[in-house]
This record gives sequence, C-alpha cells and structure tokens, in this order.
Amino acid sequence: MKVLVTGANGMLGQDLCPYLENLGMYVIKTDYDTLDITDFNQVKAQITQIHPDLIIHCAAYTNVEKAQDEIDLAKKLNVEGTKNVAIMAGQIDSTMIYISTDYVFDGTSSVPYLPSAKPNPINNYGLTKYLGELEVQKYCKKFYIARTAWLYGIHGKNFVETMIKLANDNKPIKVVDDQIGCPTSTMELIQAITKLLTKPHGIYHTCCDGQTSWYEFAKEIFAQENIKADLTPVKSAEYKTKAKRPAYSVMINENNEKLTKDWKSALSDYLASRKIQNEPVGV
Ligand SMILES: NC(=O)c1ccc[n+]([C@@H]2O[C@H](COP(=O)([O-])OP(=O)(O)OC[C@H]3O[C@@H](n4cnc5c(N)ncnc54)[C@H](OP(=O)(O)O)[C@@H]3O)[C@@H](O)[C@H]2O)c1
Repeated sequence: MKVLVTGANGMLGQDLCPYLENLGMYVIKTDYDTLDITDFNQVKAQITQIHPDLIIHCAAYTNVEKAQDEIDLAKKLNVEGTKNVAIMAGQIDSTMIYISTDYVFDGTSSVPYLPSAKPNPINNYGLTKYLGELEVQKYCKKFYIARTAWLYGIHGKNFVETMIKLANDNKPIKVVDDQIGCPTSTMELIQAITKLLTKPHGIYHTCCDGQTSWYEFAKEIFAQENIKADLTPVKSAEYKTKAKRPAYSVMINENNEKLTKDWKSALSDYLASRKIQNEPVGV
C-alpha cells in the first residue's frame, strides 16, 4: 500500500511513518517544505503524480493558545489546507484519514461523547479543526475522521515532558483539576488509526480508554516515574488562558468499542520507551 503522510515531521508524523514502514507500507513523507497543504496547485500536482492509496493528514496549525490571535492562519491550514487535501483524495478516490480533536466539543456533557455527538467548539483551534472535518466529509467519500485528545509523543513538546522537567528542576507545579479528558500517546493513536482501515468509513474516537483530569494525569506521571514533585491542584478559573478548554471532553465509540489501551498503561509504555531513547549509546 502506498501512503502519503502530511505533517510527517510533526510529533505524530515522526512516530507514524516508521510504524507504517514496519508494516510493509510504502510511505511518502511530506511536510511544509516538501508539500505546503495551503497551496492547492502543489497538493494537486503531488497527489496526482504519487496517486497514494491512503492519505494520512497530520499537518495542522496546532497551537491552541496562539490560534485565539491567529484565526486566519489557523483557518488557512486547518480548513483550506484540509479542503485541498480532501478534494484531491476525492478526485483520485484515495482513502483519507484526518486527525481531529476532542476540542470540537464544548465540554458541557456529563457523559462521554460519541462520534455522533454534535460538535460545538469553544476555541478557535477547535473551530478550525471542526470546519476541517466538514471539508473532509464534503469532498472525500472514503474518509476516516480520527478524533484524539491530550496527545503526547517522543518527538514533540508535550505535557508529560513538561511535568517531568518542572519536577526535576524542583519547581512548584500547579495543574488544573477541573478539566477531564483522555490523555493519549502517539503510539496508541497510531495503532488505533491503522485498525480503522478495516472498518466502515466515518468518524471515530481514537483517544486512550478511560478518563482523568490534568492534575490526576500529572500525579500518575510522578507516581510511575517515582518522582517527588511539589504538585498542587488548581481550578481553571485561577489558571488564565486565552483559549477556553472544554471542562469535559471524554470520548468513546459506539457500543463502547475500544480501539486503544487505557491511558495509564499507555503512559507506562511511553515512559519505558523514552528511557530507551535516552539511554547512552555504546556503553
Ligand atoms: N497535539 C495534540 O495534543 C493534539 C490533540 C488532538 C489532535 N491533534 C491533531 O493531531 C495532528 C498531529 O498533531 P501533532 O501534535 O503531531 O502536530 P505538530 O507536531 O504541530 O505537527 C504538525 C505538522 O504540520 C506541519 N505543517 C505546518 N504548516 C504546514 C503546511 N502549510 N503544509 C504542510 N505541513 C505543515 C508542521 O510543520 P512545521 O513544524 O514546519 O510548521 C508540523 O510538522 C494534528 O492534526 C492535530 O490537530 C493534536
């Protein structure tokens, strides 16, 4: 199978591409410097020439805070860029996987969101990702929308690494305990999206199983790593951010179908893998 990946140099892309290659797929890795998704002529030329069986669209504007000030840029990437990719996926009848987010929801639910739940984003990032979902559904017949959440991976700035660094620097750490979601490792997301390929096209929730708050997530990181940290729970109201976050963005699939491990086991896999990465070579 020939797979074209956009955003291949991002946190997800850098784990995804070697994983697909290990499955025996032929992977064409593209990023901003090789395929600017906002340039339709480039997208058209490359997708027509390469003619991939599958396009995994990871490229995105992902800075949730900055998107509050840069709505036009966020729209250009997440809506226009996604539309460009979806049009071409539709034209060559390729399958397309679009990575979306729990931030499409407003967080007012008290029960987990199903893929059929109505999105109502409360920040610009969530809005642009939702508008991107609509473009995918409009232009591409063979689509999967894979909504994930609270993503962390070896190749990106992420919450787990931030917590470990702050604790190692003996900094006091305040973390909100009134936002509930599903922390997800890139490796769990990747395994979940490859499972989608055997399922009917549509929207799926590809976050880790279970739920927690950011504060409990931090506590679990320190417990698993055996780190003593000066950790205090705070309320979102005390921790001012430009972008509002949903208070509750737990997502499940129809019939509670599980595509991933629970978040604690995924975290322990991640912590083990980062140790291997950080081991000195040749001793
Ligand atoms: N991170 C999370 O917590 C999270 C949560 C839910 C969903 N998601 C979704 O998961 C996907 C992957 O996220 P990630 O964390 O891996 O993001 P990331 O690390 O920010 O990677 C995004 C990639 O897109 C590239 N890009 C930017 N502008 C581009 C353009 N015009 N054309 C082509 N590529 C461009 C970036 O390149 P440069 O670095 O050169 O700009 C970067 O390599 C995204 O769709 C994101 O919305 C992420």
